[in-house]
Amino acid sequence: STLGASAAERGGRYFGTAVAASRLGDSAYTTLLNREFNQVTPENEMKIDATEPQRGQFTYGNADRIVQHATSRGMRVRGHTLAWHSQQPGWMQSLSGSTLRQAMLNHVTQVATHFRGQVTWWDVVNEAYADGSSGARRDSNLQRTGNDWIEAAFRAADAADPNAQLCYNDYNIDNWNDAKTQAVYRMVQDFRSRGVPIDCVGLQSHFTGGSNYPSNYRTTLSSFAALGVDVHITELDIRNAPADAYRNVVNDCLAVSRCRGITVWGIRDSDSWRSGESPLLFDGGGNKKAAYNAVLTALNNGTTPPGT
Ligand code: XIL
Repeated sequence: STLGASAAERGGRYFGTAVAASRLGDSAYTTLLNREFNQVTPENEMKIDATEPQRGQFTYGNADRIVQHATSRGMRVRGHTLAWHSQQPGWMQSLSGSTLRQAMLNHVTQVATHFRGQVTWWDVVNEAYADGSSGARRDSNLQRTGNDWIEAAFRAADAADPNAQLCYNDYNIDNWNDAKTQAVYRMVQDFRSRGVPIDCVGLQSHFTGGSNYPSNYRTTLSSFAALGVDVHITELDIRNAPADAYRNVVNDCLAVSRCRGITVWGIRDSDSWRSGESPLLFDGGGNKKAAYNAVLTALNNGTTPPGT
């Protein structure tokens, strides 16, 4: 069996990966992609600097290539990301106030419209909360346009693509006891109570091992789910790829019916943004690591699939 096929057997979940357009010409890479995964997230190609490098001039070539590769093979696409403080083009970094607010909303509208019908989930807003004990919003040019910038982005995305599922995505929202987790929880609760269109929460889950993969991760997933949103593990990688940590993450997702799938942030260690930490499921030669076997076994309900 494969990661994607086994996840599909578990309540129609997916098992996906970040994909870089620049690697689609690498046949060792696409062989693994096409065999193992049934969901893709463009790693950089849908970010603001990639899709609107000059104000009002939209470029979709690399993103379209990934979307075409995925949808022609039945893989679902997560769009990443419409509004974010990082990887903004220079023109956007220099804007502020109502001009920035309008430019951000126009960006959301244009990009969500371009990909309408092709993107199953959008990370509408990425990383809007601060780390640490404050529970506050992250300071950014977008935040300084007014505290309602997040809901404005969600409403614009919903208007542009009413059928897409709209997610809030962040890191360090894994530990249920952290102020950042609680703050995002309260935002989602508030959005649900006021009818702001939000369908899902993405937990990036860039882990360094035991220290920030918390024993209450499952509680966090189920607590968000109890608000009536789906949860997604959107950018999983774990320093040194310990098999037991990967197994626990999979089992935590499987224990929560609204956890709809897991995306790892790259295929081979050599593809990773953290390549020095060997955090993924395949080594640089494309060989399955121990963590791969742990993940597949967990997806197969703890049993070894026949014929393996
Ligand atoms: C990373 C990419 O993997 C890198 O190639 C890029 O240089 C920087 O961004 N959180 C996110 C992702 O939401 O978009 C980031 O991806 C990793 C952290």
